[in-house]
Amino acid sequence: MSPVAVPVPKPALWPVDMPLQPRPRGPLWIGVAGKGGAGKSVLCGTLARVLGRRGYHVLAIDSDPMPGLAHSLGVEEPDTPLLMGAAEKPAQGPWRLKSCIGPMTVVRRYTTPAPDGVRMLQLGKAGKDGLNPVNGSVNAFLGTVRRMHEARSLHDWAVVGDLPAGPRQLAAGFSPYARIYVVVVEPTSQSAMTGRRVARIARGPLGADVIFVASKVGGADERRRVERLLGESVELEIPADEAVRDAERRRLAVIDAAPEAPVVRAVEGLADVIEQRRMESS
Ligand SMILES: Nc1ncnc2c1ncn2[C@@H]1O[C@H](COP(=O)(O)OP(=O)(O)OP(=O)(O)O)[C@@H](O)[C@H]1O
Ligand SMILES: [Mg+2]
Repeated sequence: MSPVAVPVPKPALWPVDMPLQPRPRGPLWIGVAGKGGAGKSVLCGTLARVLGRRGYHVLAIDSDPMPGLAHSLGVEEPDTPLLMGAAEKPAQGPWRLKSCIGPMTVVRRYTTPAPDGVRMLQLGKAGKDGLNPVNGSVNAFLGTVRRMHEARSLHDWAVVGDLPAGPRQLAAGFSPYARIYVVVVEPTSQSAMTGRRVARIARGPLGADVIFVASKVGGADERRRVERLLGESVELEIPADEAVRDAERRRLAVIDAAPEAPVVRAVEGLADVIEQRRMESS
């Protein structure tokens, strides 16, 4: 007798399995994704600040276990993620967002204030024991982003999410809020390959729009190179700009250290493109 094939259960995506399906989202809910080191955090933090200056309430979401966004927003990294205070561990079962706390309460109470009226929500940072010590925060984070669409008042906010390198978090449902993905691509084939993968997931199962940005480019040739490698056009370019490293050396956000720098001007151009999309889609 031949053995009966027993279906092997699909392992849960760490730490919460979540169906990839489009949900209602606010028109200015954005995810920033791409390859490691492409310039995502600099772009994301600066974009959040630019939108804050234009009068939006802004939620900046940091789901990268490595540092980055706090610096480009111009705030100190909290020692422990504020979201730990919103998490509970039932006797049976994993950590979760406290049942009495909704997404808007999270935004009001468990986020770090940044300049220009921006609030920063953090997943938590990995230490020497990885993310284990902040599992509560990670699961509270997922509980929040999965339910963000339920908070009607947040639909008027601009949301800008800084994702870690690569397509993994998108595919695992860490950014269900994003209606538009800004995909950041440097002029290298590796960066373009990751950009294409990210865009495929964003446009496919996530049902989101994509804006390609050529990052750290030295001129029109490099922008064209990015377009050639991607096989499609990019919406705009972020120049390679010494002001970014100068600001890092001074431990300042680039928008504070050099508000007139070409990189800041370029991110203002990106905010224009995003606002234009909003008008077209409403
Ligand atoms: N427009 C720019 N011009 C020059 N240097 C830049 C620019 N943008 C970012 N950088 C530099 O590139 C490095 C990576 O930038 P950033 O941290 O924003 O990338 P990232 O994509 O968020 O990286 P990670 O994948 O590690 O999170 C930083 O050291 C920063 O100084
Ligand atoms: Mg980063």
